[in-house]
Amino acid sequence: MTLDTATLPETWAQEVRELARQRNAVILAHNYQIPEIQDVADYVGDSLALSRIAATHPAQVIVFCGVHFMAETAKILSPEKTVLLPEPEAGCSLAASITADDVRSWKRRHPDGVVVAYVNTSAEVKAEADICCTSSNAADVVRSLPTDIPIFFLPDQFLGAHVRRVTGREMEIWAGECHVHAEISPADVRRRLSEEPNAELLVHPECGCTTTALYLTGTGDLPADRTRVLSTGGMVAYAKQTRARRVLVATETGILYQLRKLAPRTEFVPVSERAVCPYMKMITPEKLLRSLRDFIYRVEVEPELAARARRSVERMIAIGSPSVGGE
Ligand code: 13P
Ligand code: SF4
Repeated sequence: MTLDTATLPETWAQEVRELARQRNAVILAHNYQIPEIQDVADYVGDSLALSRIAATHPAQVIVFCGVHFMAETAKILSPEKTVLLPEPEAGCSLAASITADDVRSWKRRHPDGVVVAYVNTSAEVKAEADICCTSSNAADVVRSLPTDIPIFFLPDQFLGAHVRRVTGREMEIWAGECHVHAEISPADVRRRLSEEPNAELLVHPECGCTTTALYLTGTGDLPADRTRVLSTGGMVAYAKQTRARRVLVATETGILYQLRKLAPRTEFVPVSERAVCPYMKMITPEKLLRSLRDFIYRVEVEPELAARARRSVERMIAIGSPSVGGE
């Protein structure tokens, strides 16, 4: 049986909801998931919001409609729960850009240093880190650190550059990138801005154009109040209160569904139509149904490794509410 979104039976959502009830499962969906998955989920959010829900929700089973590191983080936070990922191959190019050995090598050279790991990393890398962060709290996490120690920020170079600029903290930054966001280039953003002189601009800090957006705000080419560097959750919060007529969006295009639903009078336009994460899109309606029905694919993290990784994730969660965009 193949269920694509064009031929999805009307009963699909009911079946998913009924199986979730029978299994005592909560369905979490990242903001980049396809609309059908977002609509059937119990919660839709960014990495930080979903980690918080995974840590506290009473359901015995978490079905994570997102990518592997997100489901793994849920398992790290709730080892007693069953965490299901509907497609085991849903990885992340950014998480794959660094290994635990790379982190250990930096720590050998800087025994007094602190390692800040973006959640887009494996459990092995988190276990070597001192504290985690997401795009919505990275600046707050770095500000919480003592000022006189070396900091290693990993693995995203564009998020790292953004955090260095807004906090003024010197940091060593790993040269990793997400292939989807890195391709949203300075040239793309310049072209779109010149075509749309009255539009506002939302930029995810993983984008290759993040530095340009900041440069533009700094020079006044684009007034600072029209450019915002935001996590996907920050973009959702923006949509809830905006009165803008047209908004350019520089991130994975899955977020547009949420933004358009929340602000139907605002036109949200992608900076790049090509910004589609192939891993996020591996989660299909059919695979979600199969996951609940056949109880697959269970995400496991070896307990000792999970305990070490949990310290750095819990330190991040304890940092409190993020300031929007981490500014
Ligand atoms: P957010 O934390 O902003 O949702 O981003 C997660 C991600 O994978 C971005 O590519
Ligand atoms: Fe990873 Fe990039 Fe996909 Fe986010 S958009 S899950 S960082 S590959």
